[in-house]
Amino acid sequence: MCGIVTAISTSDIVPVLLEGLRKLEYRGYDSAGLAVVADGRLRRVRSAGRVADLAALAAREGASARVGIAHTRWATHGVPSERNAHPHVSGGLAVVHNGIIENFEAIKSALENRGYVFESDTDTEAIAHLIHSKLAAGADLFDAVRQATVELTGAYAIGVLSEADPARAVVARSGAPLLLGVGEGGMYAASDTAALLQVTRNVVYLEDGDVAELCVGGYRIVRADGSPVERPVHLSSLSADAVELGQFRHYMQKEIFEQPQALAQTLEIIAGGGSVTPQLFGARAPEVLDGVRRVLVLACGTSYHAGLVARYWLESVAKLPCTVEIASEYRYRDSVPDPDTLVVVISQSGETADTLAALKHALAQGMQRTLAICNVPESAIVREASLRFITRAGPEIGVASTKAFTTQLAALALLTLTLAKLGGRLPAEDEAHHLQNLRHLPVAVQKVLELEPAIERWAQRFAGKQHALFLGRGSHWPIAMEGALKLKEISYIHAEAYAAGELKHGPLALVDKNMPVIAVAPANRLLEKLKSNLQEVRARGGELYVFADAGSEIAESEGVHILQLPEHYGMLSPVLHVVPLQLLSYHAALVKGTDVDKPRNLAKSVTVE
Ligand code: F6R
Repeated sequence: MCGIVTAISTSDIVPVLLEGLRKLEYRGYDSAGLAVVADGRLRRVRSAGRVADLAALAAREGASARVGIAHTRWATHGVPSERNAHPHVSGGLAVVHNGIIENFEAIKSALENRGYVFESDTDTEAIAHLIHSKLAAGADLFDAVRQATVELTGAYAIGVLSEADPARAVVARSGAPLLLGVGEGGMYAASDTAALLQVTRNVVYLEDGDVAELCVGGYRIVRADGSPVERPVHLSSLSADAVELGQFRHYMQKEIFEQPQALAQTLEIIAGGGSVTPQLFGARAPEVLDGVRRVLVLACGTSYHAGLVARYWLESVAKLPCTVEIASEYRYRDSVPDPDTLVVVISQSGETADTLAALKHALAQGMQRTLAICNVPESAIVREASLRFITRAGPEIGVASTKAFTTQLAALALLTLTLAKLGGRLPAEDEAHHLQNLRHLPVAVQKVLELEPAIERWAQRFAGKQHALFLGRGSHWPIAMEGALKLKEISYIHAEAYAAGELKHGPLALVDKNMPVIAVAPANRLLEKLKSNLQEVRARGGELYVFADAGSEIAESEGVHILQLPEHYGMLSPVLHVVPLQLLSYHAALVKGTDVDKPRNLAKSVTVE
């Protein structure tokens, strides 16, 4: 969602702001803007287009300065437009903001009563006027921001600039990500590290409620009550290459092809060892996992689908009852808490507002056994949970999640084996067999990627369709769901997934020659059942695209197209079977010419409800 960059330096910061915004583009946005103080005057440039349009505008205006704030906006309050684009100003003050201010209407009407005039539909403008009112009452910029944050409810990361005080910029966060970059001859802040690698690797993660003042020579941080606080400086290990496109056309393509490496890195933890141990999930794991009687998985979107696959594993291998819930539903549902339940939250970003809130809701209900499976070690979700497993997929830039999903599955497979072992349900030979399969997984995925040319040909065939149906059974039903989600989000083809056994209970009515039906058909014990379901489709003239694997034995015939994955992979088969579906969506989107990495209306990190 929205991205923030703030910079103050001894040299021109406009290129730094623009490069930072480029690096944040992946988060999803619909407009962009920046404000600087130059020659004692606040100057603002905004665009309802892309960062490239903003850069062209800034170049035309000849913008250059030593202090500035910049922003990519993903619309929440008010349509995407230049008028609603950030920064928002109040007098000589400018503010950029990520998050949602829940009490903005109350703040707005109080400020309107005092004569402030609002020009946009955003909640952010209320922050600008609020800080301005504190300045007008005599506070300095740092204190005015601090005082204003005390009055805000909701989530925010903000950057603030004043033409009256160009020697500093002020930032603050609560519930939305923000970190500082400590450079040589400059101080910076941004929504994530990728935006700052151009200037520094030394980063300081702000905590909720922190307010920081950035000057050329350094920074200071205070809490909401004004008390100073120290935060450690970390050396980021993120390499600039990790966020570069390299030889690939799109980040999504790059990330699909990075999956063998992402899995190898995630599974490095078991590379040499011959057994699974609770410590894979953190030092406190033996105590937290002891006596767990059931599992509750909370997540959104693709991460939710990973949880759905894990349910099959946890119940069949670890024999633990497992429920998987969409985080946005769980957080508002009256549920029955059980302290012996392990609550597993899954999130690529670790910032997803609903998942974080669901975790807090579970904790508030007395469910203290919590595990975060996440790709971002310093994220809010990781910090909130008692145990953690960090997937080592590397930065995922494409909005459509790919390598995060397969590494989440690897983590969930390890969790399944660990819980099975703790429960005395994993004989040594089974453990050795599963671990061997996990270690071989990167190679197995690599072989599936070689199917790309054939999948590309399939994509050509149905990119012109309006609708598509995905079918699967058992642990491959969530894979069908993930395939449908990928297709709809990046190619805008309407796609639905069904458990194949449900077909004749309704969706079969949709099947005709114009409805491509994609089936996930591994050679497992449900294959014969699935084949019967596929016959039902064929009998209605539906065209079948079947992802089989070694041993599936489904013959090509008129209207039945088969692609065979090289290996059948037992319990871990869903990890392999999702890969061709990712490629299929990617190539269908290419044919349709959509913006693959930044599909319309979507954001990478969904930091608002
Ligand atoms: C789909 C996709 C989303 C995310 C969802 C949760 O491709 O990426 O559905 O999976 O927004 O995000 P995280 O995993 O960051 O919590």
